[in-house]
Amino acid sequence: MDMADRTQLLRALEWQVAAGADEAIGDTARDRYAPPDVPARLMDAPQPSAPVVAAPAATGSPAQSAPAPVPVGEAASIAASIESLEDLYAAIEAFDGCPLKTTAKNTVIADGVAGAPVMLLGEAPGAEEDRQGKPFIGRSGQLLDLMLGSIGLSRQENAYISNIMFWRPPGNRNPSTEEIASCRPFVDRHIELIKPKVLVFLGAPAAQTLLGRSEGITKMRGRWFNFRSAGMEELDVPPIPAIATFHPAYLLRTPVQKRFVWQDMLAIRERLNQD
Ligand code: URA
Repeated sequence: MDMADRTQLLRALEWQVAAGADEAIGDTARDRYAPPDVPARLMDAPQPSAPVVAAPAATGSPAQSAPAPVPVGEAASIAASIESLEDLYAAIEAFDGCPLKTTAKNTVIADGVAGAPVMLLGEAPGAEEDRQGKPFIGRSGQLLDLMLGSIGLSRQENAYISNIMFWRPPGNRNPSTEEIASCRPFVDRHIELIKPKVLVFLGAPAAQTLLGRSEGITKMRGRWFNFRSAGMEELDVPPIPAIATFHPAYLLRTPVQKRFVWQDMLAIRERLNQD
């Protein structure tokens, strides 16, 4: 290969990395433009529908209960039998039911104080979180720390931080419905074991998944909802007040929206002060 070819190949690789394709997920390259290798008789067969993550709740006034989500797969029975945070962490580490685990470097579960009054949930670990095995430690995590600090909270003292996914999707793509569903029972059990006074959902994927709602984050942010997992409902545990706000990564791209997050932070402070 001459120097010009090499430079061209390097440029093509840099372009792929910049576009987010920064993980090798197979030993051989796959031609995604090739015709599918499917027998003709199957081409018109109806496709199975995606598993249900959670039924959408009726829209309307704040502070309504979210419907019980439908537990999916083997994670549900494992999660239901877990009684301590330590066992939950071990079960998530050992769980092989989420395909993202195969491409991630680390399992990323939580950071902060386990008995904290506030539990925050984002979407999925990014590259830095995947490298270090801790949630929200990259640029958006630094902004999150500033947001928390503005109302007297910190992961060292009184906040607990996690995500609805425990493994980084390759190239930071959005996790699929199935991938989210595979982790969901652990997320519910995580919340049940932490028992925070207040839940904060960072960004639309966390809010939509855990509240079973389909509205965008602009409509959901700043409003109080009730979070109640299927397990809490079964045991008649009261719901946990939950608020959604913009994801810090979105704020890094759109700083003008920080004023709304400031309002949300004040609402969280006020709610915590009530107890
Ligand atoms: N974004 C998230 O949603 N979670 C992280 O842990 C990091 C970035």
